[in-house]
Amino acid sequence: MKIKNLHLDTPLLLAPMAGLTHSALRTLLLQFGGVGLLSTEMLAARKLPVENERLSPFLVRTEQEKPLSYQLLVSGVDEIAPALEALVRLHADAVDINLGCPAPKVRRSGGGSSLMDAPELVREIIAEARRKTALPLTAKIRLGESFSEEKLQSFCQMLDGEGIDLLTVHARLRKEAFCRKPHWQWVAKVKEWVSIPVIANGSVLSVADAKKCLQVSNADGLMIGRGAAYTPWLFADIAREVYGFDIPQIKVCLPMVYADFVVALLRFIPERRLGRMKEFTHYFATNYFFGHTLACEVQGAGSVEQAWQKACAFFQRNDEQGMAEGEQRLAEVGALLVDVG
Ligand SMILES: Cc1cc2nc3c(=O)[nH]c(=O)nc-3n(C[C@H](O)[C@H](O)[C@H](O)COP(=O)(O)O)c2cc1C
Repeated sequence: MKIKNLHLDTPLLLAPMAGLTHSALRTLLLQFGGVGLLSTEMLAARKLPVENERLSPFLVRTEQEKPLSYQLLVSGVDEIAPALEALVRLHADAVDINLGCPAPKVRRSGGGSSLMDAPELVREIIAEARRKTALPLTAKIRLGESFSEEKLQSFCQMLDGEGIDLLTVHARLRKEAFCRKPHWQWVAKVKEWVSIPVIANGSVLSVADAKKCLQVSNADGLMIGRGAAYTPWLFADIAREVYGFDIPQIKVCLPMVYADFVVALLRFIPERRLGRMKEFTHYFATNYFFGHTLACEVQGAGSVEQAWQKACAFFQRNDEQGMAEGEQRLAEVGALLVDVG
Protein backbone atom coordinates (compact mmCIF):
# COMPACT_ATOMS: atom_id res chain seq x y z
CA MET A 1 0.00 0.00 0.00
CA LYS A 2 1.17 3.55 -0.72
CA ILE A 3 0.24 6.87 0.86
CA LYS A 4 1.51 9.45 -1.59
CA ASN A 5 5.14 8.38 -1.96
CA LEU A 6 5.30 6.44 1.32
CA HIS A 7 5.31 2.67 0.90
CA LEU A 8 3.66 0.67 3.70
CA ASP A 9 4.63 -2.99 4.04
CA THR A 10 1.11 -3.88 5.21
CA PRO A 11 -2.19 -1.96 5.12
CA LEU A 12 -2.37 -2.08 8.92
CA LEU A 13 -2.06 1.21 10.78
CA LEU A 14 -1.52 1.79 14.46
CA ALA A 15 -4.13 4.18 15.87
CA PRO A 16 -3.01 7.29 17.70
CA MET A 17 -3.84 6.79 21.39
CA ALA A 18 -3.08 9.28 24.17
CA GLY A 19 -0.97 7.62 26.87
CA LEU A 20 -0.55 4.42 24.84
CA THR A 21 1.09 4.93 21.46
CA HIS A 22 4.55 5.93 22.65
CA SER A 23 8.00 4.58 21.91
CA ALA A 24 7.66 1.60 24.28
CA LEU A 25 4.44 0.23 22.77
CA ARG A 26 5.69 0.88 19.24
CA THR A 27 8.90 -0.99 20.01
CA LEU A 28 6.94 -3.93 21.38
CA LEU A 29 4.73 -4.04 18.28
CA LEU A 30 7.76 -4.05 15.99
CA GLN A 31 9.00 -7.16 17.73
CA PHE A 32 5.96 -9.08 16.41
CA GLY A 33 5.73 -7.31 13.04
CA GLY A 34 2.78 -6.67 10.77
CA VAL A 35 2.34 -2.93 11.39
CA GLY A 36 2.47 -0.90 8.17
CA LEU A 37 2.42 2.55 9.77
CA LEU A 38 3.15 3.46 13.37
CA SER A 39 1.70 6.51 15.06
CA THR A 40 2.28 8.94 17.88
CA GLU A 41 -0.56 9.97 20.13
CA MET A 42 -2.22 13.32 19.38
CA LEU A 43 0.23 16.18 19.77
CA ALA A 44 -0.95 19.72 20.38
CA ALA A 45 0.19 21.62 17.29
CA ARG A 46 0.55 24.78 19.35
CA LYS A 47 3.04 23.19 21.78
CA LEU A 48 5.00 21.09 19.31
CA PRO A 49 7.51 23.75 18.19
CA VAL A 50 8.80 24.22 21.76
CA GLU A 51 8.88 20.57 22.87
CA ASN A 52 12.28 18.91 23.36
CA GLU A 53 12.22 15.66 21.42
CA ARG A 54 14.86 14.06 23.64
CA LEU A 55 13.00 14.75 26.88
CA SER A 56 9.34 14.66 25.93
CA PRO A 57 7.70 11.25 26.56
CA PHE A 58 5.36 12.13 23.67
CA LEU A 59 8.18 12.63 21.18
CA VAL A 60 11.04 10.30 22.06
CA ARG A 61 11.52 7.57 19.49
CA THR A 62 14.13 5.12 18.31
CA GLU A 63 15.44 4.81 14.77
CA GLN A 64 13.65 1.49 14.41
CA GLU A 65 10.22 3.11 14.78
CA LYS A 66 9.56 3.66 11.11
CA PRO A 67 7.48 4.61 9.24
CA LEU A 68 5.99 6.86 11.90
CA SER A 69 3.02 9.16 11.48
CA TYR A 70 2.62 12.13 13.83
CA GLN A 71 -0.91 13.14 14.73
CA LEU A 72 -1.63 16.84 15.16
CA LEU A 73 -4.34 18.27 17.34
CA VAL A 74 -5.15 21.53 15.63
CA SER A 75 -7.66 24.29 16.26
CA GLY A 76 -6.51 27.08 13.94
CA VAL A 77 -4.76 27.71 10.63
CA ASP A 78 -1.92 29.69 12.24
CA GLU A 79 -0.75 26.60 14.15
CA ILE A 80 -0.07 24.60 11.00
CA ALA A 81 3.16 26.05 9.59
CA PRO A 82 5.23 26.02 12.83
CA ALA A 83 3.97 22.52 13.71
CA LEU A 84 4.89 21.18 10.28
CA GLU A 85 8.34 22.72 10.51
CA ALA A 86 8.81 20.90 13.82
CA LEU A 87 7.64 17.63 12.24
CA VAL A 88 10.23 17.91 9.48
CA ARG A 89 12.93 18.30 12.15
CA LEU A 90 11.52 15.20 13.86
CA HIS A 91 11.71 13.17 10.62
CA ALA A 92 7.99 12.47 10.46
CA ASP A 93 7.05 10.04 7.69
CA ALA A 94 3.43 11.22 7.58
CA VAL A 95 1.17 13.78 9.26
CA ASP A 96 -2.33 13.02 10.49
CA ILE A 97 -4.91 15.65 11.42
CA ASN A 98 -7.17 14.75 14.33
CA LEU A 99 -10.77 15.52 13.38
CA GLY A 100 -12.42 12.85 15.51
CA CYS A 101 -11.45 13.10 19.18
CA PRO A 102 -14.68 13.46 21.21
CA ALA A 103 -13.02 14.32 24.57
CA PRO A 104 -14.76 17.39 26.05
CA LYS A 105 -11.44 19.10 26.86
CA VAL A 106 -10.27 18.69 23.26
CA ARG A 107 -13.59 19.88 21.86
CA ARG A 108 -13.57 22.94 24.14
CA SER A 109 -10.15 23.86 22.76
CA GLY A 110 -11.69 23.89 19.28
CA GLY A 111 -9.98 20.68 18.09
CA GLY A 112 -10.82 17.03 17.45
CA SER A 113 -14.40 16.19 16.54
CA SER A 114 -15.58 19.79 17.11
CA LEU A 115 -13.90 20.54 13.76
CA MET A 116 -16.37 18.30 11.94
CA ASP A 117 -18.94 21.00 12.74
CA ALA A 118 -16.69 23.64 11.17
CA PRO A 119 -16.00 22.39 7.63
CA GLU A 120 -14.90 25.77 6.30
CA LEU A 121 -12.23 26.07 8.99
CA VAL A 122 -11.12 22.50 8.27
CA ARG A 123 -10.89 23.36 4.58
CA GLU A 124 -8.52 26.23 5.42
CA ILE A 125 -6.48 24.08 7.81
CA ILE A 126 -6.06 21.29 5.28
CA ALA A 127 -5.32 23.69 2.41
CA GLU A 128 -2.63 25.38 4.52
CA ALA A 129 -1.15 22.02 5.56
CA ARG A 130 -1.13 20.87 1.94
CA ARG A 131 0.64 24.06 0.84
CA LYS A 132 3.25 23.72 3.59
CA THR A 133 4.19 20.04 3.37
CA ALA A 134 5.00 17.45 0.75
CA LEU A 135 4.73 14.71 3.39
CA PRO A 136 1.81 12.27 3.18
CA LEU A 137 -1.10 14.08 4.79
CA THR A 138 -3.91 12.04 6.35
CA ALA A 139 -7.01 12.76 8.41
CA LYS A 140 -8.91 10.77 11.01
CA ILE A 141 -12.62 11.34 11.51
CA ARG A 142 -15.65 9.88 13.26
CA LEU A 143 -19.02 9.57 11.53
CA GLY A 144 -20.21 12.88 12.95
CA GLU A 145 -22.78 14.06 15.47
CA SER A 146 -25.68 12.07 14.02
CA PHE A 147 -26.17 9.96 10.91
CA SER A 148 -26.24 12.43 8.04
CA GLU A 149 -25.12 11.03 4.74
CA GLU A 150 -25.18 14.45 3.13
CA LYS A 151 -23.01 16.10 5.79
CA LEU A 152 -20.52 13.26 5.96
CA GLN A 153 -20.24 12.98 2.20
CA SER A 154 -19.54 16.66 1.67
CA PHE A 155 -17.03 16.66 4.57
CA CYS A 156 -15.12 13.67 3.20
CA GLN A 157 -15.16 15.01 -0.36
CA MET A 158 -13.91 18.37 0.90
CA LEU A 159 -10.94 16.59 2.59
CA ASP A 160 -10.22 14.67 -0.60
CA GLY A 161 -10.47 17.84 -2.70
CA GLU A 162 -8.08 19.78 -0.44
CA GLY A 163 -5.37 17.18 -0.89
CA ILE A 164 -5.64 14.67 1.94
CA ASP A 165 -3.82 11.48 0.88
CA LEU A 166 -5.67 8.97 3.07
CA LEU A 167 -8.73 9.05 5.28
CA THR A 168 -9.29 6.96 8.41
CA VAL A 169 -12.87 6.55 9.61
CA HIS A 170 -13.53 5.55 13.20
CA ALA A 171 -16.95 4.12 12.50
CA ARG A 172 -18.81 5.61 15.43
CA LEU A 173 -20.79 8.77 16.03
CA ARG A 174 -19.27 11.41 18.26
CA LYS A 175 -21.10 10.33 21.42
CA GLU A 176 -20.91 6.58 20.89
CA ALA A 177 -18.78 4.77 23.45
CA PHE A 178 -16.60 1.75 22.78
CA CYS A 179 -19.33 -0.57 24.07
CA ARG A 180 -21.47 0.40 21.06
CA LYS A 181 -21.01 -1.66 17.92
CA PRO A 182 -19.07 0.22 15.23
CA HIS A 183 -20.90 1.01 11.96
CA TRP A 184 -18.39 -0.45 9.51
CA GLN A 185 -20.99 -0.28 6.74
CA TRP A 186 -20.64 3.51 6.83
CA VAL A 187 -16.98 3.18 5.90
CA ALA A 188 -18.17 1.48 2.70
CA LYS A 189 -20.20 4.61 1.89
CA VAL A 190 -17.18 6.85 2.48
CA LYS A 191 -15.14 4.60 0.22
CA GLU A 192 -17.60 5.24 -2.62
CA TRP A 193 -17.50 9.00 -2.15
CA VAL A 194 -13.74 9.63 -2.25
CA SER A 195 -10.84 8.77 -4.54
CA ILE A 196 -8.18 8.32 -1.83
CA PRO A 197 -7.51 5.18 0.26
CA VAL A 198 -9.97 4.74 3.13
CA ILE A 199 -8.99 2.97 6.34
CA ALA A 200 -11.59 1.42 8.65
CA ASN A 201 -11.20 1.82 12.40
CA GLY A 202 -13.20 0.69 15.43
CA SER A 203 -13.24 -2.52 17.44
CA VAL A 204 -10.98 -4.64 15.29
CA LEU A 205 -9.75 -6.80 18.15
CA SER A 206 -9.20 -10.16 16.48
CA VAL A 207 -8.44 -11.78 13.13
CA ALA A 208 -12.16 -12.58 12.79
CA ASP A 209 -13.04 -8.90 13.39
CA ALA A 210 -10.51 -7.88 10.75
CA LYS A 211 -12.03 -10.22 8.17
CA LYS A 212 -15.55 -9.08 8.98
CA CYS A 213 -14.64 -5.40 9.00
CA LEU A 214 -12.91 -5.62 5.62
CA GLN A 215 -15.82 -7.53 4.15
CA VAL A 216 -18.41 -5.01 5.39
CA SER A 217 -16.41 -1.81 4.87
CA ASN A 218 -14.54 -2.67 1.68
CA ALA A 219 -11.76 -0.55 3.21
CA ASP A 220 -8.24 -0.33 1.83
CA GLY A 221 -6.80 -1.20 5.21
CA LEU A 222 -7.39 -1.25 8.93
CA MET A 223 -6.39 0.97 11.81
CA ILE A 224 -6.04 -0.80 15.15
CA GLY A 225 -6.02 0.94 18.50
CA ARG A 226 -6.81 -0.87 21.74
CA GLY A 227 -6.01 -4.23 20.15
CA ALA A 228 -2.37 -3.14 20.04
CA ALA A 229 -2.29 -3.09 23.84
CA TYR A 230 -4.64 -6.04 24.43
CA THR A 231 -2.67 -8.33 22.11
CA PRO A 232 0.45 -6.69 20.63
CA TRP A 233 0.81 -9.64 18.21
CA LEU A 234 -2.56 -8.84 16.57
CA PHE A 235 -1.04 -6.93 13.62
CA ALA A 236 1.22 -9.88 12.83
CA ASP A 237 -1.70 -12.32 13.04
CA ILE A 238 -3.90 -10.19 10.75
CA ALA A 239 -1.06 -9.56 8.28
CA ARG A 240 -0.41 -13.29 8.11
CA GLU A 241 -3.92 -14.72 8.25
CA VAL A 242 -5.90 -12.07 6.37
CA TYR A 243 -3.37 -10.66 3.92
CA GLY A 244 -1.09 -13.69 3.52
CA PHE A 245 2.15 -11.97 4.53
CA ASP A 246 4.99 -14.24 5.45
CA ILE A 247 5.47 -13.11 9.04
CA PRO A 248 6.96 -15.64 11.44
CA GLN A 249 4.66 -16.64 14.28
CA ILE A 250 6.28 -15.89 17.62
CA LYS A 251 5.17 -18.05 20.54
CA VAL A 252 3.52 -15.70 23.00
CA CYS A 253 4.70 -15.88 26.60
CA LEU A 254 2.67 -13.24 28.44
CA PRO A 255 5.12 -12.39 31.27
CA MET A 256 7.85 -12.09 28.66
CA VAL A 257 5.78 -9.73 26.50
CA TYR A 258 5.01 -7.66 29.59
CA ALA A 259 8.70 -7.62 30.52
CA ASP A 260 9.62 -6.49 26.99
CA PHE A 261 7.18 -3.62 27.31
CA VAL A 262 8.64 -2.57 30.67
CA VAL A 263 12.19 -2.84 29.31
CA ALA A 264 11.29 -0.50 26.43
CA LEU A 265 9.51 1.83 28.87
CA LEU A 266 12.59 2.04 31.09
CA ARG A 267 15.01 2.39 28.18
CA PHE A 268 13.20 4.88 26.01
CA ILE A 269 10.65 6.88 27.99
CA PRO A 270 12.46 9.54 30.00
CA GLU A 271 9.68 10.41 32.47
CA ARG A 272 6.07 9.75 33.48
CA ARG A 273 6.62 6.04 33.05
CA LEU A 274 4.27 4.84 35.77
CA GLY A 275 1.14 6.29 34.14
CA ARG A 276 2.09 4.64 30.87
CA MET A 277 2.68 1.32 32.60
CA LYS A 278 -0.77 1.52 34.24
CA GLU A 279 -2.46 2.42 30.97
CA PHE A 280 -0.87 -0.49 29.09
CA THR A 281 -1.57 -2.94 31.92
CA HIS A 282 -5.26 -1.99 31.92
CA TYR A 283 -5.53 -3.57 28.45
CA PHE A 284 -2.85 -6.25 28.56
CA ALA A 285 -4.15 -7.73 31.82
CA THR A 286 -7.29 -8.96 30.04
CA ASN A 287 -5.22 -11.81 28.63
CA TYR A 288 -5.57 -13.43 32.07
CA PHE A 289 -8.72 -14.86 33.52
CA PHE A 290 -8.10 -12.90 36.73
CA GLY A 291 -6.57 -10.00 34.83
CA HIS A 292 -8.56 -7.37 36.71
CA THR A 293 -6.45 -8.27 39.77
CA LEU A 294 -3.26 -7.52 37.84
CA ALA A 295 -4.71 -4.25 36.51
CA CYS A 296 -5.89 -3.17 39.99
CA GLU A 297 -2.62 -4.04 41.67
CA VAL A 298 -0.54 -2.14 39.13
CA GLN A 299 -3.04 0.72 39.27
CA GLY A 300 -2.45 1.04 43.01
CA ALA A 301 1.36 1.09 42.75
CA GLY A 302 3.29 4.23 43.66
CA SER A 303 6.34 3.57 41.50
CA VAL A 304 7.38 1.56 38.45
CA GLU A 305 9.41 -0.71 40.71
CA GLN A 306 6.41 -1.43 42.92
CA ALA A 307 4.18 -1.98 39.90
CA TRP A 308 6.72 -4.42 38.48
CA GLN A 309 6.92 -6.34 41.79
CA LYS A 310 3.14 -6.59 41.94
CA ALA A 311 3.00 -7.80 38.35
CA CYS A 312 5.66 -10.44 39.02
CA ALA A 313 3.77 -11.65 42.08
CA PHE A 314 0.63 -11.93 39.94
CA PHE A 315 2.47 -13.91 37.25
CA GLN A 316 3.95 -16.18 39.92
CA ARG A 317 0.46 -16.97 41.21
CA ASN A 318 -1.28 -17.25 37.82
CA ASP A 319 1.30 -18.16 35.20
CA GLU A 320 4.08 -20.26 36.67
CA GLN A 321 5.05 -21.65 33.28
CA GLY A 322 5.24 -18.18 31.72
CA MET A 323 7.38 -17.01 34.64
CA ALA A 324 9.77 -19.90 34.10
CA GLU A 325 9.96 -19.35 30.32
CA GLY A 326 10.48 -15.61 30.73
CA GLU A 327 12.96 -15.83 33.60
CA GLN A 328 15.87 -14.25 31.73
CA ARG A 329 13.81 -11.39 30.32
CA LEU A 330 12.28 -10.72 33.72
CA ALA A 331 15.74 -10.55 35.24
CA GLU A 332 16.60 -7.91 32.64
CA VAL A 333 13.84 -5.67 34.01
CA GLY A 334 15.16 -6.14 37.54
CA ALA A 335 18.66 -5.08 36.44
CA LEU A 336 17.32 -2.08 34.51
CA LEU A 337 15.28 -0.96 37.49
CA VAL A 338 18.46 -0.92 39.57
CA ASP A 339 20.23 1.08 36.83
CA VAL A 340 17.42 3.58 36.43
CA GLY A 341 17.46 4.00 40.20
C1 LIG B 1 -6.69 5.46 25.47
C2 LIG B 1 -7.10 6.00 24.12
C3 LIG B 1 -6.55 7.18 23.65
C4 LIG B 1 -6.91 7.66 22.39
N1 LIG B 1 -6.28 8.78 21.91
C5 LIG B 1 -6.51 9.18 20.63
C6 LIG B 1 -5.73 10.21 20.03
O1 LIG B 1 -4.78 10.72 20.62
N2 LIG B 1 -6.07 10.58 18.76
C7 LIG B 1 -7.09 9.99 18.05
O2 LIG B 1 -7.35 10.36 16.91
N3 LIG B 1 -7.81 9.00 18.60
C8 LIG B 1 -7.53 8.56 19.84
N4 LIG B 1 -8.19 7.48 20.35
C9 LIG B 1 -9.14 6.75 19.48
C10 LIG B 1 -8.37 5.64 18.73
O3 LIG B 1 -7.43 6.18 17.84
C11 LIG B 1 -9.34 4.75 17.92
O4 LIG B 1 -10.02 5.55 17.00
C12 LIG B 1 -10.36 4.06 18.82
O5 LIG B 1 -9.73 3.51 19.96
C13 LIG B 1 -11.11 2.96 18.07
O6 LIG B 1 -10.20 1.98 17.62
P1 LIG B 1 -10.01 0.57 18.40
O7 LIG B 1 -11.37 0.00 18.59
O8 LIG B 1 -9.13 -0.23 17.48
O9 LIG B 1 -9.39 0.89 19.72
C14 LIG B 1 -7.86 6.97 21.61
C15 LIG B 1 -8.43 5.81 22.09
C16 LIG B 1 -8.06 5.31 23.32
C17 LIG B 1 -8.66 4.01 23.81
